[in-house]
Amino acid sequence: MKKVDILVVGSGVAGLTFAIKMAENHPDKSICVLTKTDPGESNTRYAQGGVAAVWDDNKDSYQKHIEDTLDAGDGLCKEEIVEIVVKEGPVRVNELINWGTRFDKDKTGSLYDLGREGGHSENRILHYKDLTGWEIQRALLEKAGQLANLEILDQYFAIDIITQHHLGRWVTRLSSNIECYGCYALNRETNIIETILAKATVMASGGAGQVYKATTNPVIATGDGIAMVYRAKGRVENMEFIQFHPTALFNPAGENPVFLVSEAVRGFGGILKDADGNEFMQKYDARKSLAPRDIVARAIDNEIKQRGTEHMYLDCRHLNKEEFLKHFPTIYNKCVGLGIDPMQTMIPVVPACHYLCGGIKTDALGRTSIHNLYACGECTSTGLHGANRLASNSLLEGLVFGHRIFLELSQRIDSLDWKEGIPNWNAEGTSDPKEMVLITQSLKELKEIMSSYVGIVRSNVRLQRAYDRLHILYEETETLYNSTTISPQLCELRNLITMAYLITRSAATRHESRGLHYTTDYPDQKDFLDDTIL
Ligand code: FAD
Ligand code: SIN
Repeated sequence: MKKVDILVVGSGVAGLTFAIKMAENHPDKSICVLTKTDPGESNTRYAQGGVAAVWDDNKDSYQKHIEDTLDAGDGLCKEEIVEIVVKEGPVRVNELINWGTRFDKDKTGSLYDLGREGGHSENRILHYKDLTGWEIQRALLEKAGQLANLEILDQYFAIDIITQHHLGRWVTRLSSNIECYGCYALNRETNIIETILAKATVMASGGAGQVYKATTNPVIATGDGIAMVYRAKGRVENMEFIQFHPTALFNPAGENPVFLVSEAVRGFGGILKDADGNEFMQKYDARKSLAPRDIVARAIDNEIKQRGTEHMYLDCRHLNKEEFLKHFPTIYNKCVGLGIDPMQTMIPVVPACHYLCGGIKTDALGRTSIHNLYACGECTSTGLHGANRLASNSLLEGLVFGHRIFLELSQRIDSLDWKEGIPNWNAEGTSDPKEMVLITQSLKELKEIMSSYVGIVRSNVRLQRAYDRLHILYEETETLYNSTTISPQLCELRNLITMAYLITRSAATRHESRGLHYTTDYPDQKDFLDDTIL
């Protein structure tokens, strides 16, 4: 049994921002970060476009960034949270820079080169070529490595958070006093499930894109943290709001994850077109190719379905090659590797699951409904994104809430203690799996169900069909889980089924179309109070 002052699940932008601040300011406290594969493998690592922050006070303002965020969120953002994130954002980005993160400068060499993406009324995106996330992840890991009281345990798979339930107490979704004491985690090298006790735990486990067949998210994005909190009877919300990125690279060979063609390419002048080279976005929104993501993704989906094609196109042929290469070297090389020279040929693009707007419900200090359990980053629903996230607001949210949890826990940590009497993991009655195919095939079926019935366009019939199919998968997987030795693959399948259930259930209870949730049965928006307890 291991005891640490603070346990963090996840080594992306949110988890590491918190862990670095806590470790640096409290050298007497032990901070332990679990990460399920390599420390650098996360959604953060793949972020392309950049971090949105009000940087140029002459042209931009907090009010404009707030309005853009609220507009994208389609009436469901919490205004006080939007204001907090927008106003605290620039200071947090400055800290990232002080920790060694590089962002591109403009031709003068003294000002940052601010990019533009869909839904933004000004240029306000700081970026490092098309590798912003890679650069942030690098700088954070380097900084974390300098702190003696910060330990990163890689290849540690968190299975469940520990609560009163593990002490044999009765806990329900309506219990108001659930407490978190740490977590059980599988050490992938020894195959032993370890008990890690913590005075406070921070969930920063990222998104769940792998619940769909085509996603820009790496294979680690399986919604583990949200599923753990849901199993522990914590509050989860807004799960129906799945963001599909309009422009993933269409690759007939199929790849997982699919490669993203950043929205920044459209901010740079790339235009969405059909196979004949005609624009079509004017039919859907006055902002055309730079309308918010929900609108563009639905428009492309609609065009693809009407025309019976597999993809639409992004035309970059009119752009300056030297500048394009300077800004988007990774995208350029990836396209060329597939035989598509973006300067000669239009890039085939298709929408793909990209971001989860809902998740673990938190307040403005990152507190969840479970005592001593905090959460930040993509696994949360803070109220910033509402029904649709504004581009490049996600890294920003991770930075701001990582900091806010640090402030809150700095006040509380000395008053907290470890829980006594926690039992070790009980693996009695389980044996090694005989057929891995049961897991791999169920995973395929799950992705197929979600992509076919709970995608960009939904309906009551499709959702019901998904629900019925998911129920069968759920029952089969629970039987397997209760009789089989635990493996990361089995845990991920189980967590993804929970994600699928939550997305489908939430979608079925929202009787309107709003933001990222569009249903043919309720095509209009109405005042809808979403107070369902999932
Ligand atoms: P992540 O960075 O995903 O980190 C999650 C961590 O949790 C990982 O370390 C993982 O190993 C760990 N973990 C998960 N489950 C477990 C478990 N069971 N046990 C132990 N560890 C676990 N956002 C922007 O703002 N701007 C962009 O330009 C942008 N571009 C993007 C491009 C792509 C291709 C993608 C996929 C996303 C992009 N996003 C962008 C979204 C953004 O990158 C993510 O939302 C953000 O990085 C999430 O950070 P996080 O710290 O919450 O989670
Ligand atoms: C992109 O670069 O298009 C992704 C930006 C984001 O998801 O915020």
